[in-house]
Amino acid sequence: MSNPAVPVRPFVGPGRVLAGPGTSSKIGAELELVGVGPGQVLLVADAAVADLGLLAPIVKSLASAGFDALLAPPVAAEPTRQVVETLVSMEDAANVTAVVSVGGGSAIDAAKLAAASLTGDLDLDAGLTPAQPLAPCPPLIAVPTTAGTGAEATAVAMLWGKAGKVMFVHPRLVPRAAVLDSTLLRALPKPVISGAGLDALTHAIESLLSTFRTPLTAAAGLGALGTLATALPSAYENPSEAVMNEMLVGAFQAGLALNASVVLGHSLAYVIAGRARLSHGVSCAMALPYCLAHARTSSESQIEDMAELVLGERDATALVRWFSDLAAAMAIPRSLSDVGIAAADLPQLAEEVVTRYPRPNHPAPIVQGDIEALLEHFLAGDWEAAWETAADPSAAAATERVA
Ligand SMILES: NC(=O)c1ccc[n+]([C@@H]2O[C@H](COP(=O)([O-])OP(=O)(O)OC[C@H]3O[C@@H](n4cnc5c(N)ncnc54)[C@H](O)[C@@H]3O)[C@@H](O)[C@H]2O)c1
Repeated sequence: MSNPAVPVRPFVGPGRVLAGPGTSSKIGAELELVGVGPGQVLLVADAAVADLGLLAPIVKSLASAGFDALLAPPVAAEPTRQVVETLVSMEDAANVTAVVSVGGGSAIDAAKLAAASLTGDLDLDAGLTPAQPLAPCPPLIAVPTTAGTGAEATAVAMLWGKAGKVMFVHPRLVPRAAVLDSTLLRALPKPVISGAGLDALTHAIESLLSTFRTPLTAAAGLGALGTLATALPSAYENPSEAVMNEMLVGAFQAGLALNASVVLGHSLAYVIAGRARLSHGVSCAMALPYCLAHARTSSESQIEDMAELVLGERDATALVRWFSDLAAAMAIPRSLSDVGIAAADLPQLAEEVVTRYPRPNHPAPIVQGDIEALLEHFLAGDWEAAWETAADPSAAAATERVA
């Protein structure tokens, strides 16, 4: 699955990973092991996680290792610049020796950006690329409570800005350690299990399509796909501790696969989420079949490899059908019309995909006319038509002429 034409890119991830039920109660020792000296620790937690009382063992473990927890105001879903500014402006925040984040991708991303802002002059409106300078941040320990974005494994953080998602990618944003504790996921609501779980699946699948893939990202992506394909349906039906543990591991592996980055599916997801106010996981799940259709001719063997892993047969169409049926069984909307997007919106959405979220690593050229044609199929919820059109270049050209 690796692309030998692309030189091996850096592969980043946390230096330590502690996985298993109850591991969050060892977080104090974990901080010591990553070299954090005694002092105050900024504890950034998700609002629901705090309300559920899940922080008590973590605070206790920090205290018994000699750390004082500075509890930040809880973070609600999908953070904005104001959320990060609130964390950074807390009294004593500037003196913390480490940051601990307990929550889904939203709380972890807010904590990453707060840590970076505490020591550096980070422009929260502009985003960040790996080539830009960023001062060393206080070490971050990430404890995911959804499974999930894989944010505990990545160099990425996302914020909602005025005009859409703003992306921050930098090696200094990688958590120093990740603690994967399935007991924290006991009260995860069903729509969060499905949305976050499907998001993790899209990370695995899109990373395997990415032209930035390397042998290491491909191994992580295939590992994640195999684990999540089996675990997610069970997690949705019966979220036992054992299966949520598998989900956490699969989502973490999918986060490691994000070293190859994601492709067109996430660009489509960002623009539809912005227009229809959808959660990240729901928008990614809706977009994936259309991303696969767009990549079909350039990535046939990769898609067949994935089909073989998940379904035991090299049938690319069957893989898309499997994913689409899985999402439908979890009540994910099928079409853009289902979420209130109209035909008149499509030209603007296609323009946003091309200009705001270009993907040089997507395996096929992203051209506005093609994206508009793809969105027409998406409007109707007809991934089969998008898939067939992609297989027949003359039909694609005819659609583009009509558009
Ligand atoms: N940094 C990265 O690498 C990365 C990757 C993908 C996505 N993201 C970002 O992550 C965000 C989405 O994160 P998410 O999908 O994890 O959801 P989330 O963090 O937004 O949480 C979703 C909902 O679940 C609740 N919740 C979280 N944990 C819970 C628990 N254990 N029990 C009960 N309720 C709980 C939250 O309060 C919230 O209402 C988006 O902003 C997305 O852009 C980041």
